[in-house]
Amino acid sequence: MDKSNGKKKLKISVFISGRGTNLKSIINFSKKKNSLIEVNLVISDNKKAKGLNFAKKNKIRFLIVNYKKKNIAENKILTNLKKCKIDFICLAGFMKILSKKFINNYKGKILNIHPSLLPKYKGLNTHKRVIMNKEKFTGCTVHMVNSKLDSGKIIFQKKIKVLKNDNEKKLEKRLLNIENRIYPIAIKKFINFNL
Ligand code: GRF
Repeated sequence: MDKSNGKKKLKISVFISGRGTNLKSIINFSKKKNSLIEVNLVISDNKKAKGLNFAKKNKIRFLIVNYKKKNIAENKILTNLKKCKIDFICLAGFMKILSKKFINNYKGKILNIHPSLLPKYKGLNTHKRVIMNKEKFTGCTVHMVNSKLDSGKIIFQKKIKVLKNDNEKKLEKRLLNIENRIYPIAIKKFINFNL
């Protein structure tokens, strides 16, 4: 296990399905001086996920998992997580829903980022719904994962104004920058209070 300032680094695994900007921000955070974490394993259910390039660039182990049979896929992931002695998991745009059994294996050790002010707007197409409903505010949330979709304890949340000329795309872009900033903050908070 790597050490930083005499402290053992926590090993984390990041799960992605696509672009991977949050993965990138977590990797950058892990490379900071005295960082408490190291990204040890990237999991993707999509072999074409752009985010895999960040793993490759940084020489981080990655595993592409065929999700045709969820049970088999999850068992394969679990085996690899245990092999790498992963301490906790960050979901970052991972488009598969984890089973209860999987979550129980890492109870209280799975984080997710969601592009809305949870508990509002769980699920997909959050920005579209926010615009349609003429919301004045929106935001993003890092939360714990439990067996109900987007419903676990909130770790960190950032609220922003919806601007007059915002559309789905503009909002997504603005919020993604904020997501990338808050994920490391939430990880720090999670470590301080839970590990
Ligand atoms: C983010 O908007 C995240 O909130 C959602 O999926 C998107 C992933 O983006 N769960 P990226 O792959 O990290 O760029």
